[in-house]
Amino acid sequence: MSSGSIFKDRNKLSPYYIPKRLPYRDEQIRILHSIYDAMIKDVKDAYPRFTQIIGPTGTGKTCTTIRFGEQITEYAEKEGVNLKYIYVNCKVDGATRYVLFRNLVRKLTPKISTRSLSPEEMLRQFVEYLKAENIFSIITFDEIDYFVQINPKDHIIYDLTRTTETSPGEPSPIIGEIFIAKSLRWHERLDPGEKSTLGLGVIEFPRYTSLQVREILSSRVEEAFHPGAVSEETLDLVSDITANPPVNGDIRVGLDLLYYSGNLAENQGLDRVLPDHVRKVYSEINPSITSEDIMNLDKNGRLILLALVRSLRSSGSAYVGLRDLRKNYEVICEEFNLKPTERFEEHLQDLIYRGIVDMKSLTELGISGVSLIDLDQFLSSLAEKLRKEMK
Ligand SMILES: Nc1ncnc2c1ncn2[C@@H]1O[C@H](COP(=O)(O)OP(=O)(O)OP(=O)(O)O)[C@@H](O)[C@H]1O
Ligand SMILES: [Mg+2]
Repeated sequence: MSSGSIFKDRNKLSPYYIPKRLPYRDEQIRILHSIYDAMIKDVKDAYPRFTQIIGPTGTGKTCTTIRFGEQITEYAEKEGVNLKYIYVNCKVDGATRYVLFRNLVRKLTPKISTRSLSPEEMLRQFVEYLKAENIFSIITFDEIDYFVQINPKDHIIYDLTRTTETSPGEPSPIIGEIFIAKSLRWHERLDPGEKSTLGLGVIEFPRYTSLQVREILSSRVEEAFHPGAVSEETLDLVSDITANPPVNGDIRVGLDLLYYSGNLAENQGLDRVLPDHVRKVYSEINPSITSEDIMNLDKNGRLILLALVRSLRSSGSAYVGLRDLRKNYEVICEEFNLKPTERFEEHLQDLIYRGIVDMKSLTELGISGVSLIDLDQFLSSLAEKLRKEMK
């Protein structure tokens, strides 16, 4: 098969690409608009509003606020307001107050020379420039918890929320600041004054549920892959891995799995991404079954696992039914000249507790995030050893 038959546009899986639609984040975007749209309408009398965004890794905090920034800028333009939405990421744009503020100024204009300025002076010039040019600004500070954690004595929130106090009583050209963090724990590092000016406006970004993960990934698959290159089954597997522990709904991992699995399939000259590709990639990211785990199994555990590998391989799918597994187990016992155990269910349950076997339902058994190809090989050599021991 010709190469290039997998991806339509692999960039659509990049963590930096923001899709047109952000499913399940409409409510969060709506809340942001409900806060800031009204201020645009009455911008001359606006006082800054601070909003906090809280949610675990990969729940769309960054992409949603960037999208909101595009929308509010467009809205302001329609209303005849010169709005500058600025996004700074504390992990990218500066780990110290000095560097962070310098980058903030640079994102506004190259006209301010920051060379000999202190961080406080940079902020003052920032505000002065906005006023002089009749520009209003909303600034997002992403990964603020990271910044506060590494600079606990900087009291950056104090600086950022009191930018207007240089000219008391006057409305501020900074009409909003949005602070993004993974949880509210960063408040522990703030002093009471900072906490109180920050206020109580918190927008939560809950973890995506399994169904939500699947839908989000499904629309990315449509954008990135040729039709049919990723089967429902492959997508199911990627979604399951992404939605469940230890990944817990981090969409970034799902996108990575799709990207690397697609590459792997392409390198093998295939035009379809198979569940096996996903397992292989995932096992490399996060090997959940070590060879030690397998060595620690008893004979029946190994035999059942081997039976599962065979069932999966012959069905070519991500999950097989219990009946199928049992049949294969009996065949293998016959091959080894062993009597099948009467406590099959117990042994299977043990494999599930150990996190080696993944049971979605009685008819859907699979292997937890491991490459089928490697496992098969490993078990074949194990089987070889077993065979020798039997003699
Ligand atoms: N609702 C969604 N629809 C489509 N893609 C999404 C959605 N939510 C997240 N993503 C994608 O998942 C990836 C991670 O999202 P994002 O960077 O916004 O997460 P985050 O909450 O900021 O995570 P972190 O706390 O690690 O910074 C991005 O590539 C983004 O495009
Ligand atoms: Mg982020």
